[in-house]
Amino acid sequence: MKIMGILTSGGDAPGMNAAIRAVVRIAYSKGYNVLGFEKGWEGLITNTFRQLTPRSVGGIINLGGTILLTSRCSRFREKDGIREAAKTLALNKVDGLVFIGGNGSVKGAFELSKETDTLIVGVPATIDNDVYGTDETIGFDTAVNTAVAEIDKIRDTAISHERVFIVEVMGRKRGFLALTIGLTVGAEVILVPEEKHETHEIIETIRENGAKGKRSGIIVAAEGVGNTHKLARKIERKTGAEVRLSILGYAQRGGNPTARSRLLASLFADEAVRLLLEKHGNKVVGLGDGKITSVDLKKSCETEKPLDLSLLKLARVLAT
Ligand code: F6P
Repeated sequence: MKIMGILTSGGDAPGMNAAIRAVVRIAYSKGYNVLGFEKGWEGLITNTFRQLTPRSVGGIINLGGTILLTSRCSRFREKDGIREAAKTLALNKVDGLVFIGGNGSVKGAFELSKETDTLIVGVPATIDNDVYGTDETIGFDTAVNTAVAEIDKIRDTAISHERVFIVEVMGRKRGFLALTIGLTVGAEVILVPEEKHETHEIIETIRENGAKGKRSGIIVAAEGVGNTHKLARKIERKTGAEVRLSILGYAQRGGNPTARSRLLASLFADEAVRLLLEKHGNKVVGLGDGKITSVDLKKSCETEKPLDLSLLKLARVLAT
């Protein structure tokens, strides 16, 4: 019997369950047995898995989180942990492994690929949308919509009290979430880790808006831009505006996946299983120019996905 392994790794993302469901059902339809390793790479290291059948994955397409659990496995950053994981794959005669995760998981999978003959294919799933090789990751659309719904509410009270709100969104290292959320809520200022922000420029914008009669405003800031508490106090001091800080936090990581996140999950899973069946391993599947594609694991691991900073200029024009 041919055996396929599957696991979810790193920060969870809405749509991971939809991807698990699709991999299991497609693999089964091709005659594979599927082992679901629990808690990401940790399950590979400890050989902790459960048999997954088409029935095991019923009723999960709409659920956030991951039925296989996930982790950020520190042992997998060490050679011995990776070698233990490779032994597990050999022990269970796993022909192909699908990992569902983000940037960190791609790096781990690349290291594992050097220690095993098992072919590995990645399904990009992270709310950060920072995986090279795909225009969009599973979960990104859901997180954006979650944040937009919350910030639309914050906009109501900002207008009523004529206040400026700094809304901190997720994205420790990258600004894909902040940029897309900022554009789609009409933020007056968007702060991303990729562009050093000058506080005086923010203050100038707030002052100019005030002079134009715009007495409230939304500043969307990626968590990676720095201390938003201090920034709020400084803007308040320099502009005289009432400034409040709202940190959206982990709500962006959960919730029922949107139709788009579910669609990407199903299409990425289909491509991942196809690649493994055709013995094309060590890839990451993705969306490119509207088509389902794939890139080498090594390339995805070693290449930083570019952020289109010109959209920051567009956002500024749209928010005048
Ligand atoms: O990678 C997704 C993400 O939500 C980032 O946006 C965030 O900075 C990080 O995970 C939080 O990590 P943890 O879940 O380990 O606190």
